[in-house]
Amino acid sequence: MNDVLIARALHVLAVVIWIGGVSMATTVVLPAVRRGQLGEDWLRAFQAIEHRFVWQARSAIILVGLTGFYMCWRLDLWSRFRTAGFWWMHAMLGVWFLFAMMLFVAEPLIAHRYFRGWATLHRAAAFAWVSRIHWLLLILSALTIVGAVAGSRGWPIL
Ligand code: HEM
Repeated sequence: MNDVLIARALHVLAVVIWIGGVSMATTVVLPAVRRGQLGEDWLRAFQAIEHRFVWQARSAIILVGLTGFYMCWRLDLWSRFRTAGFWWMHAMLGVWFLFAMMLFVAEPLIAHRYFRGWATLHRAAAFAWVSRIHWLLLILSALTIVGAVAGSRGWPIL
């Protein structure tokens, strides 16, 4: 069972790095950018930070997926995905899929192509939208973390 313990530890470590970064971007970086505290060029300021973090987030997503599926396979937890009471298992998969799509598909394909133009023409609106998306993802992730920690220890209402 040591392999499952290691997988679980790596799973949580990667979640901390990934969602911690999302929290920092949402609650610290974006408000500072939108107040002009990191300079007048909002896009440049945001991208300077985001470009460095995005690779950490991508690596963490891969590690979370590998360790998560490994635990499902080793402990044969697949039947949980057919039970509503294990909503937090669905939530983990859902949040993971959403971020994977955003960081591996939408960000390189759409964001780079369209966001630069939008942010140049309508800076405030574009950054308000980025901020809303970040808040939504952060809230979903936080609920998932609470559900997973409590649910995996058998908390009855979760
Ligand atoms: C492919 C996606 C994922 C899979 C297959 C997966 C799978 C798992 C499994 C099998 C467990 C152990 C459950 C148990 O011991 O009963 C677990 C624990 C956990 N997962 Fe995930 N997970 C995934 C993504 C995520 C995401 C995106 C988050 C955070 C937003 C997350 C956060 C956690 C947490 C906090 C725990 C509890 C650790 C503990 O307290 O022991 N997982 N995950």
